[in-house]
Amino acid sequence: MRIGIIGAGQMARALGNGWAAAGHDIRYGRRGDVRAAAEFGDVTLLAVPVPALTEVLGEGSFDGQTLIDCTNAFEPDDGTMVLGEDAVAERVAALAPGARVVKAFNLCAAEVWAADERVFDGHRLAVPLCGDDADALARVEELVRDLKAEPVRAGGLNRARYLEAMSAFVVGMWFAGADARAALPPLEAAFAIAD
Ligand SMILES: NC(=O)c1ccc[n+]([C@@H]2O[C@H](COP(=O)([O-])OP(=O)(O)OC[C@H]3O[C@@H](n4cnc5c(N)ncnc54)[C@H](OP(=O)(O)O)[C@@H]3O)[C@@H](O)[C@H]2O)c1
Repeated sequence: MRIGIIGAGQMARALGNGWAAAGHDIRYGRRGDVRAAAEFGDVTLLAVPVPALTEVLGEGSFDGQTLIDCTNAFEPDDGTMVLGEDAVAERVAALAPGARVVKAFNLCAAEVWAADERVFDGHRLAVPLCGDDADALARVEELVRDLKAEPVRAGGLNRARYLEAMSAFVVGMWFAGADARAALPPLEAAFAIAD
C-alpha cells in the first residue's frame, strides 16, 4: 500500500518503519509539507498532537481515503492526564469529509511499535479498531497484521471516544506503576454466566 504519514515524530517513525519493513511505500509529511503526504496514500496516518489536527486536515483532501487516527487528547501529557476532548476521531471525520476514519494504535506507546516483541505472556498484542467503513477497517486490519499484532473490531466510530478514554485511564495506571492488564479477567472468566 501507499501510506502517507502526517507527522514525523515518535509514532510516525515507529509505525512507519514497521510498515516499510513489511513492504509498504511510506511518505512522511513534515510541518510545512503536509499536503504531499496527504495526497500520497491509499491510507493516511494522522500522527500529530491533537491541537494540530484542524490545521493539518485543512491542508489536504482525504475524500475516499482510509484515515487512521492514533491521537490522544492528553492534558497534560503525563500520568495525571485527563482528556482535553472526548471524541477526537469523530471530529477528525467531521473535518475530513469523505474520509473513512478508523481509530487505531492510540493505546500502546511508540516504544512498543519500535520494538520487535508482540507476544506477551503467551498472548499476541491486540489492537482495537473503531470505524464505520468495512473496506477501511479491512485495510487497517491488514496493516495491524503487518506489524505482527492482532486486530480486534471494537465497534463504530461512535465508540472511538471510549477507546480514547481507555487510553487516558490505562496510561495513567502505567505511569502509577500498576499493571493495567491485571484489572481484566480473561474472556472465559469475564461473565458469571456466559451469553
Ligand atoms: N508517543 C506515543 O507513545 C503515543 C502513543 C499513542 C498515541 N500517540 C498520539 O500520537 C500523536 C503523535 O504523538 P508523537 O508522540 O508521535 O508526537 P511527537 O513525537 O511529538 O511528534 C509529533 C509530530 O507532529 C508534528 N507536528 C506538530 N504540529 C504540526 C503541525 N501543525 N503541522 C504538521 N506537523 C506538526 C511534529 O513536528 P515538529 O517536530 O516540527 O513539531 C512532529 O513531527 C499524538 O496525538 C499522540 O497523542 C502517541
